[in-house]
Amino acid sequence: MKHKQILNYVIYDSIEEGTYGKVYNAKNLLTGEECAIKVFFDKGNIIDLRHEYNILSSLDHENIIQCKGYFEQVNKVYMKNGYLVMEKGRTDLYEHLCKNLNIIEFINYIYDVIKGLEYLHSKQIVHGDIKLENVVLVGNRAKIVDFGLSHRLQETVKNISYQGTKNMIAPEILFDGFCCCNSDVWSLGKMMQQIEQELMQDGYKDYPRMSCIFMKCFERDYRIRPNITKIKDMFEERYGDILSDIHT
Ligand SMILES: Nc1ncnc2c1ncn2[C@@H]1O[C@H](COP(=O)(O)OP(=O)(O)OP(=O)(O)O)[C@@H](O)[C@H]1O
Ligand SMILES: [Mg+2]
Repeated sequence: MKHKQILNYVIYDSIEEGTYGKVYNAKNLLTGEECAIKVFFDKGNIIDLRHEYNILSSLDHENIIQCKGYFEQVNKVYMKNGYLVMEKGRTDLYEHLCKNLNIIEFINYIYDVIKGLEYLHSKQIVHGDIKLENVVLVGNRAKIVDFGLSHRLQETVKNISYQGTKNMIAPEILFDGFCCCNSDVWSLGKMMQQIEQELMQDGYKDYPRMSCIFMKCFERDYRIRPNITKIKDMFEERYGDILSDIHT
Protein backbone atom coordinates (compact mmCIF):
# COMPACT_ATOMS: atom_id res chain seq x y z
CA MET A 1 0.00 0.00 0.00
CA LYS A 2 1.36 3.45 -0.98
CA HIS A 3 1.91 5.71 2.01
CA LYS A 4 3.58 8.89 3.06
CA GLN A 5 4.92 10.13 6.39
CA ILE A 6 4.29 13.67 7.61
CA LEU A 7 5.46 14.61 11.10
CA ASN A 8 4.41 11.68 13.29
CA TYR A 9 1.64 10.50 10.96
CA VAL A 10 1.67 7.83 8.24
CA ILE A 11 -0.94 8.74 5.66
CA TYR A 12 -2.43 5.83 3.70
CA ASP A 13 -5.15 5.67 1.07
CA SER A 14 -7.79 8.36 0.66
CA ILE A 15 -11.21 7.67 2.15
CA GLU A 16 -13.00 10.28 0.13
CA GLU A 17 -12.29 13.14 -2.22
CA GLY A 18 -14.11 16.26 -1.05
CA THR A 19 -14.68 19.56 -2.82
CA TYR A 20 -11.45 21.21 -1.71
CA GLY A 21 -9.29 18.40 -0.44
CA LYS A 22 -9.19 14.79 0.53
CA VAL A 23 -9.76 12.74 3.66
CA TYR A 24 -7.16 10.01 4.27
CA ASN A 25 -6.79 7.00 6.52
CA ALA A 26 -3.78 7.60 8.73
CA LYS A 27 -1.97 6.41 11.81
CA ASN A 28 -0.27 8.30 14.62
CA LEU A 29 3.17 6.68 14.92
CA LEU A 30 3.65 7.86 18.51
CA THR A 31 0.46 6.32 19.86
CA GLY A 32 -0.28 3.67 17.19
CA GLU A 33 -3.78 5.11 16.97
CA GLU A 34 -5.71 5.02 13.66
CA CYS A 35 -7.13 8.39 12.59
CA ALA A 36 -8.59 10.28 9.63
CA ILE A 37 -6.78 13.32 8.23
CA LYS A 38 -8.49 15.94 6.08
CA VAL A 39 -5.91 17.62 3.82
CA PHE A 40 -6.45 20.92 2.00
CA PHE A 41 -3.92 21.82 -0.61
CA ASP A 42 -4.10 25.48 -1.36
CA LYS A 43 -3.69 28.69 0.55
CA GLY A 44 -7.22 30.09 0.10
CA ASN A 45 -8.81 26.86 1.19
CA ILE A 46 -6.48 26.45 4.16
CA ILE A 47 -8.28 29.38 5.78
CA ASP A 48 -11.48 27.31 5.62
CA LEU A 49 -9.74 24.31 7.17
CA ARG A 50 -8.38 26.51 9.99
CA HIS A 51 -11.93 27.73 10.58
CA GLU A 52 -13.14 24.13 10.69
CA TYR A 53 -10.41 23.31 13.20
CA ASN A 54 -11.33 26.31 15.37
CA ILE A 55 -14.93 25.21 15.60
CA LEU A 56 -14.29 21.46 15.93
CA SER A 57 -11.60 21.84 18.59
CA SER A 58 -14.03 23.81 20.77
CA LEU A 59 -16.50 20.89 20.82
CA ASP A 60 -16.66 17.84 23.04
CA HIS A 61 -19.61 15.50 22.55
CA GLU A 62 -19.99 11.78 21.82
CA ASN A 63 -21.95 12.46 18.65
CA ILE A 64 -19.48 14.97 17.18
CA ILE A 65 -16.27 13.71 15.64
CA GLN A 66 -13.35 14.26 17.98
CA CYS A 67 -10.64 16.65 16.79
CA LYS A 68 -7.10 15.46 17.47
CA GLY A 69 -5.08 18.34 16.10
CA TYR A 70 -4.16 20.58 13.21
CA PHE A 71 -0.91 21.43 11.48
CA GLU A 72 0.38 23.02 8.29
CA GLN A 73 3.38 22.15 6.15
CA VAL A 74 5.01 23.65 3.09
CA ASN A 75 4.79 21.23 0.17
CA LYS A 76 7.12 20.54 -2.78
CA VAL A 77 5.84 23.52 -4.75
CA TYR A 78 6.31 25.85 -1.76
CA MET A 79 2.61 26.08 -1.03
CA LYS A 80 1.12 25.29 2.36
CA ASN A 81 -0.95 22.16 2.97
CA GLY A 82 -3.33 22.09 5.94
CA TYR A 83 -3.94 18.86 7.91
CA LEU A 84 -6.93 18.36 10.23
CA VAL A 85 -6.50 15.21 12.34
CA MET A 86 -9.69 13.51 13.55
CA GLU A 87 -10.98 10.39 15.17
CA LYS A 88 -11.59 7.85 12.40
CA GLY A 89 -15.05 6.73 11.30
CA ARG A 90 -15.43 3.37 9.57
CA THR A 91 -17.98 4.54 6.98
CA ASP A 92 -20.40 7.40 6.39
CA LEU A 93 -24.19 7.03 6.64
CA TYR A 94 -24.70 7.37 2.90
CA GLU A 95 -22.41 4.41 2.20
CA HIS A 96 -23.89 2.46 5.09
CA LEU A 97 -27.46 3.02 3.89
CA CYS A 98 -26.52 1.57 0.49
CA LYS A 99 -25.35 -1.67 2.11
CA ASN A 100 -27.38 -2.06 5.27
CA LEU A 101 -31.04 -1.50 5.99
CA ASN A 102 -31.37 -2.27 9.67
CA ILE A 103 -34.25 -0.15 10.89
CA ILE A 104 -33.47 -0.10 14.61
CA GLU A 105 -29.85 0.75 13.83
CA PHE A 106 -30.83 3.71 11.65
CA ILE A 107 -33.37 5.03 14.15
CA ASN A 108 -30.54 5.07 16.70
CA TYR A 109 -28.16 6.82 14.26
CA ILE A 110 -30.74 9.53 13.63
CA TYR A 111 -31.14 9.92 17.38
CA ASP A 112 -27.34 10.31 17.66
CA VAL A 113 -27.39 13.08 15.04
CA ILE A 114 -30.25 14.80 16.91
CA LYS A 115 -28.23 14.72 20.16
CA GLY A 116 -25.12 16.01 18.38
CA LEU A 117 -27.14 18.86 16.88
CA GLU A 118 -28.79 19.71 20.19
CA TYR A 119 -25.32 20.09 21.70
CA LEU A 120 -24.11 22.23 18.77
CA HIS A 121 -27.14 24.48 18.92
CA SER A 122 -26.77 24.86 22.69
CA LYS A 123 -23.40 26.44 21.84
CA GLN A 124 -25.05 28.65 19.23
CA ILE A 125 -23.27 26.87 16.39
CA VAL A 126 -25.00 26.03 13.12
CA HIS A 127 -23.56 23.06 11.23
CA GLY A 128 -24.75 24.27 7.84
CA ASP A 129 -24.43 21.04 5.82
CA ILE A 130 -26.29 18.20 7.55
CA LYS A 131 -26.58 15.21 5.20
CA LEU A 132 -25.94 11.46 5.19
CA GLU A 133 -22.38 11.89 3.87
CA ASN A 134 -21.49 14.16 6.79
CA VAL A 135 -22.28 11.58 9.48
CA VAL A 136 -19.77 8.78 10.14
CA LEU A 137 -19.94 5.66 12.27
CA VAL A 138 -17.49 5.06 15.10
CA GLY A 139 -18.26 1.74 16.85
CA ASN A 140 -22.04 1.72 17.15
CA ARG A 141 -22.30 5.49 17.38
CA ALA A 142 -23.05 8.05 14.69
CA LYS A 143 -20.95 11.24 14.75
CA ILE A 144 -21.30 14.48 12.81
CA VAL A 145 -18.32 15.51 10.62
CA ASP A 146 -17.53 18.30 8.13
CA PHE A 147 -17.70 21.64 9.92
CA GLY A 148 -16.51 23.48 6.79
CA LEU A 149 -19.76 25.45 6.48
CA SER A 150 -20.51 25.82 10.16
CA HIS A 151 -20.43 29.06 12.07
CA ARG A 152 -21.10 30.59 15.44
CA LEU A 153 -24.25 32.63 15.46
CA GLN A 154 -22.52 35.76 16.74
CA GLU A 155 -20.62 35.88 13.48
CA THR A 156 -23.86 35.69 11.46
CA VAL A 157 -23.64 36.08 8.29
CA LYS A 158 -26.44 37.80 6.52
CA ASN A 159 -26.63 37.62 2.75
CA ILE A 160 -24.64 34.44 2.68
CA SER A 161 -24.29 32.97 -0.73
CA TYR A 162 -24.71 29.40 0.20
CA GLN A 163 -22.48 26.52 -0.86
CA GLY A 164 -24.33 23.77 1.03
CA THR A 165 -26.04 20.82 -0.59
CA LYS A 166 -28.88 22.09 -2.79
CA ASN A 167 -31.68 19.65 -2.06
CA MET A 168 -30.96 19.76 1.70
CA ILE A 169 -30.95 23.55 2.20
CA ALA A 170 -33.61 25.38 4.23
CA PRO A 171 -35.69 28.00 2.36
CA GLU A 172 -34.47 30.92 4.55
CA ILE A 173 -30.93 30.23 3.33
CA LEU A 174 -31.91 29.68 -0.26
CA PHE A 175 -34.23 32.68 -0.62
CA ASP A 176 -33.29 35.14 2.13
CA GLY A 177 -29.55 34.46 2.60
CA PHE A 178 -30.26 34.02 6.31
CA CYS A 179 -29.23 31.08 8.43
CA CYS A 180 -30.05 29.93 11.98
CA CYS A 181 -30.01 26.76 14.12
CA ASN A 182 -33.40 25.77 12.75
CA SER A 183 -31.87 25.65 9.25
CA ASP A 184 -30.10 22.47 10.43
CA VAL A 185 -33.49 21.10 11.54
CA TRP A 186 -34.74 21.41 7.95
CA SER A 187 -31.69 19.48 6.64
CA LEU A 188 -32.11 16.87 9.38
CA GLY A 189 -35.71 16.38 8.15
CA LYS A 190 -34.39 15.83 4.61
CA MET A 191 -31.95 13.27 5.94
CA MET A 192 -34.71 11.43 7.83
CA GLN A 193 -36.87 11.45 4.69
CA GLN A 194 -34.06 9.90 2.61
CA ILE A 195 -33.51 7.21 5.22
CA GLU A 196 -37.22 6.44 5.45
CA GLN A 197 -37.50 6.15 1.66
CA GLU A 198 -34.70 3.56 1.64
CA LEU A 199 -36.03 1.69 4.67
CA MET A 200 -39.53 1.45 3.16
CA GLN A 201 -38.12 -1.17 0.78
CA ASP A 202 -37.32 -3.39 3.69
CA GLY A 203 -40.30 -4.01 5.93
CA TYR A 204 -40.34 -0.62 7.61
CA LYS A 205 -44.10 -1.05 7.91
CA ASP A 206 -43.49 -2.82 11.24
CA TYR A 207 -42.39 0.43 12.92
CA PRO A 208 -44.04 3.82 13.31
CA ARG A 209 -43.19 6.12 10.40
CA MET A 210 -40.85 9.07 10.77
CA SER A 211 -42.85 11.20 8.35
CA CYS A 212 -44.92 12.88 11.08
CA ILE A 213 -41.65 14.19 12.53
CA PHE A 214 -39.80 15.17 9.38
CA MET A 215 -42.87 16.94 7.94
CA LYS A 216 -42.61 19.28 10.97
CA CYS A 217 -38.97 19.94 10.02
CA PHE A 218 -40.26 21.19 6.65
CA GLU A 219 -42.20 24.10 8.15
CA ARG A 220 -41.17 26.92 5.79
CA ASP A 221 -41.07 29.60 8.48
CA TYR A 222 -37.99 28.95 10.64
CA ARG A 223 -39.65 30.83 13.53
CA ILE A 224 -42.49 28.30 13.65
CA ARG A 225 -40.36 25.25 12.76
CA PRO A 226 -39.70 23.18 15.93
CA ASN A 227 -36.22 23.50 17.35
CA ILE A 228 -33.93 20.51 17.80
CA THR A 229 -35.01 19.89 21.42
CA LYS A 230 -38.65 19.65 20.33
CA ILE A 231 -37.63 17.24 17.55
CA LYS A 232 -35.71 15.19 20.12
CA ASP A 233 -38.78 15.02 22.39
CA MET A 234 -40.98 13.87 19.50
CA PHE A 235 -38.40 11.28 18.50
CA GLU A 236 -38.12 9.92 22.06
CA GLU A 237 -41.87 9.76 22.39
CA ARG A 238 -42.22 7.80 19.15
CA TYR A 239 -39.21 5.50 19.36
CA GLY A 240 -38.37 5.41 23.08
CA ASP A 241 -38.58 1.63 23.28
CA ILE A 242 -35.91 1.09 20.58
CA LEU A 243 -33.48 3.89 21.47
CA SER A 244 -30.48 2.27 23.11
CA ASP A 245 -29.33 5.31 25.15
CA ILE A 246 -32.61 6.53 26.48
CA HIS A 247 -32.74 4.41 29.62
CA THR A 248 -29.19 5.15 30.74
N1 LIG B 1 -13.29 11.52 10.62
C1 LIG B 1 -13.67 10.83 9.54
N2 LIG B 1 -13.61 9.49 9.53
C2 LIG B 1 -13.99 8.79 8.44
N3 LIG B 1 -14.42 9.35 7.30
C3 LIG B 1 -14.51 10.68 7.24
C4 LIG B 1 -14.13 11.50 8.35
N4 LIG B 1 -14.32 12.79 8.01
C5 LIG B 1 -14.80 12.77 6.74
N5 LIG B 1 -14.90 11.51 6.27
C6 LIG B 1 -15.36 11.08 4.94
O1 LIG B 1 -14.85 11.97 3.97
C7 LIG B 1 -15.92 12.63 3.28
C8 LIG B 1 -15.50 14.06 2.96
O2 LIG B 1 -15.21 14.72 4.19
P1 LIG B 1 -15.83 16.17 4.48
O3 LIG B 1 -17.29 16.08 4.26
O4 LIG B 1 -15.33 16.63 5.78
O5 LIG B 1 -15.10 16.97 3.32
P2 LIG B 1 -15.60 18.10 2.33
O6 LIG B 1 -14.42 18.55 1.55
O7 LIG B 1 -16.35 19.09 3.04
O8 LIG B 1 -16.50 17.30 1.38
P3 LIG B 1 -17.83 17.75 0.68
O9 LIG B 1 -17.62 19.10 0.16
O10 LIG B 1 -17.99 16.68 -0.35
O11 LIG B 1 -18.88 17.69 1.77
C9 LIG B 1 -17.13 12.48 4.19
O12 LIG B 1 -18.33 12.49 3.43
C10 LIG B 1 -16.88 11.12 4.84
O13 LIG B 1 -17.29 10.09 3.95
MG1 LIG C 1 -18.88 16.76 3.44
